[in-house]
Amino acid sequence: MEKEFVRFQMDEGIAVVIIDNPASLNALNTATLTQLDGIFKDLGRNLDVKGVIITGGGEKSFVAGADITEFLQITQDTAAAFMARGQRVFDQIEAFDRPVIAAINGFALGGGNELAMCCDIRIAAENAIFGQPEVNLAIIPGYGGTQRLPRLVGPAKAKEIIFADERISAQEALRLGLVERVVPKGQALDEAKKLMKKIIAKGPMAVKMAKKAINQGLKMSLKDGLDLEAECEAVCFGTEDKNEGAKAFLEKKPAKFTGK
Ligand code: COA
Repeated sequence: MEKEFVRFQMDEGIAVVIIDNPASLNALNTATLTQLDGIFKDLGRNLDVKGVIITGGGEKSFVAGADITEFLQITQDTAAAFMARGQRVFDQIEAFDRPVIAAINGFALGGGNELAMCCDIRIAAENAIFGQPEVNLAIIPGYGGTQRLPRLVGPAKAKEIIFADERISAQEALRLGLVERVVPKGQALDEAKKLMKKIIAKGPMAVKMAKKAINQGLKMSLKDGLDLEAECEAVCFGTEDKNEGAKAFLEKKPAKFTGK
């Protein structure tokens, strides 16, 4: 049987997905990517899942990149398909129709930083280290790093990080907008759960539509993005939860959302 490199636990509607191969600092080998893909497909079908947190097994690393031991087999002819496959797995996570938070407990290098960047929100432990070290191996980031990093930190900063393998501390990542929160070592997952509990208590369709409007709108002109926002808002106004939210406010009591 194939070794299990990715597992998940349910905690009150939150699926905690753990990339769990600490012997290689949770490097993303082919089996890990396949398992991550399969788990996200399963979570997508599971309506008990209200939100997902991704973290790394062990104390040292979130994900230390793609598995370098596989690189000798990849050639110019096979590289594009290899990268496209990883990109599809990460695109699926980015487009997941419920919130996804990265709890970055240590190294987020190469594919690790790329995985974190396709999550909606990133929470880093203070010991986390970020970087795109691919040029050390005479290659470039291939799971979205050249595209998502400049969108988050600006093109010149992304070039500095990618061209020179400049490593970024958690505090610097916070300053750059690469992560949203920094917490003491060992507390990234707890903080992510705390934030996710707050998010999943809101109107579920509202969170889903806000994610869609933001993610898809970023690829559009402002005009098209505003049209999309109006469409997404109309979906929210068609829900029972919209009436529940307004009534609860007017009656000065907490809303009980059902996701309908
Ligand atoms: N692929 C495969 N194996 C990896 C790996 C990766 N991306 N990153 C770490 N490992 C393995 C190491 O080879 C080592 O295995 P070993 O115990 O069999 O020798 C083990 O994980 C522990 O790593 P080690 O280098 O001993 O830990 P460290 O604390 O000294 O250094 C890093 C940590 C993250 C700085 C270092 O492992 C590193 O630079 N990794 C590669 C990062 C990278 O270039 N990622 C992008 C790939 S495209």
